[in-house]
Amino acid sequence: MKEIVGRGKWASKAGFVLAAAGSAVGLGNLWKFPYMAGENGGAAFVFVYLLLLGLIGMTVMLAELTVGRHTQLDALGAYKKLSAKWAWVGGMGVLCAFLIMAFYTVVGGWAIKYFFGSFAGAANIDFGAFITAPMEPLIYTLVFCVLTWVIVFYGIGGGIEKASKIMMPLLFIFIIIIAVRSCTLPGAGAGLDYYLNPDFSKINGEVILAAMGQVFFSLSLGMGCMITYGSYLDRDSSLTQSAWMIPALDTTIAFLAGLAIFPAVFAFGMQPDGGPGLMFGILPQVFDKIPAGTFFAAIFFLLVIFAALTSAISLLEVVTAYFVDEKSVKRSVASVIGIMGIFILAIPCSLSMGALANVHVIPEIAAMNIPAMGFFDSFDFLTSKVMLPLGGLLLCIFVGWVWGTDKAIDEITEGGGKSFPLGGIWSILVKYIAPVAILMVFLSGFGVI
Ligand code: TRP
Repeated sequence: MKEIVGRGKWASKAGFVLAAAGSAVGLGNLWKFPYMAGENGGAAFVFVYLLLLGLIGMTVMLAELTVGRHTQLDALGAYKKLSAKWAWVGGMGVLCAFLIMAFYTVVGGWAIKYFFGSFAGAANIDFGAFITAPMEPLIYTLVFCVLTWVIVFYGIGGGIEKASKIMMPLLFIFIIIIAVRSCTLPGAGAGLDYYLNPDFSKINGEVILAAMGQVFFSLSLGMGCMITYGSYLDRDSSLTQSAWMIPALDTTIAFLAGLAIFPAVFAFGMQPDGGPGLMFGILPQVFDKIPAGTFFAAIFFLLVIFAALTSAISLLEVVTAYFVDEKSVKRSVASVIGIMGIFILAIPCSLSMGALANVHVIPEIAAMNIPAMGFFDSFDFLTSKVMLPLGGLLLCIFVGWVWGTDKAIDEITEGGGKSFPLGGIWSILVKYIAPVAILMVFLSGFGVI
């Protein structure tokens, strides 16, 4: 067997879990989860989310990590090694990493702008004017790309793991500070009520499917990210433990984000709009009215930068690992190729907020609920709604039926040495339940069901 020298390893088990949790915890947690929960039945939505997380999220998480640790290869190489015909699925994952990064780095750039802007009062930034300008957001996107690249350049143990070990605990402390500040504001109760008051009447098929889509994106599943991170693990690491700890950390942060945002928004009588408008347009107005608001705004946007960075490095690592393992390129060169391709794709994404707003990459297809979309929205749509569900579905079919759950369980238990009492249930989840559920998300995205 060909050993790839110098591809790197995690230095510690805790380091791996923090890095993987860092990949999962990102922009998806900080604004998307709270907003979705608030809109879709509060605690009732959280309940559905947790159910799907347990059934599908943890199932696919374990499957990805297992394929990665077993093959010790990048996403494409992992599939290819187990079945040459399936290599293209891994290839789709690598492509997906480019497309996600194209818009993710743009939003990461916005967060950097707001962090620096917060010292002079982030509320003074005109969000609309800023993102539609041609040059300034691109410069911040480039800064975000360079930061991401530097970490990945230094490799697994020395770069990604070290950065995650610093940023993740800080992120955790920061979000607790902001959540406590937010929940203790006079009038915070209305926000808590909006966020958490369970309304089961809002739970319908559409909401359940939305929750599952969110499980997917938030856990970084469906494109080989966890395959890649799993490939740097040694065999004596517990995969089953990781498969519940990463989702647990991810969900805790998502939940805390809601506690940080809604009470503050309601305390100042603002409207909880979804999307980037909430985080960049409204929150700075809220901080503006809080005593020591400059401090809290700076902490908050630093938190957003950390969350986005630890996710972005995992996406760049998917690309870098592909070039290192498949093309025998040095990490330094591979990471440069990756980030350059990403930045080139990010340029039209950023410009699609302004100059290229009317350039539609995807045309309107009314029969499938698809509106006309520019670069940013198209890449978001193509990845979240098409490639990730498809990648997750194919991974389940692959592990369940091609590689086989017996072999996977052999890897998980290290040849029977470790116990895995839920192995039988996991097999059923991988082979039947998860693929069917994922197929439903996919079809619903196109209004087929
Ligand atoms: N999970 C991250 C978030 O919530 C984004 C992310 C990182 C991601 N790597 C991924 C999403 C891989 C899908 C696939 O922001």
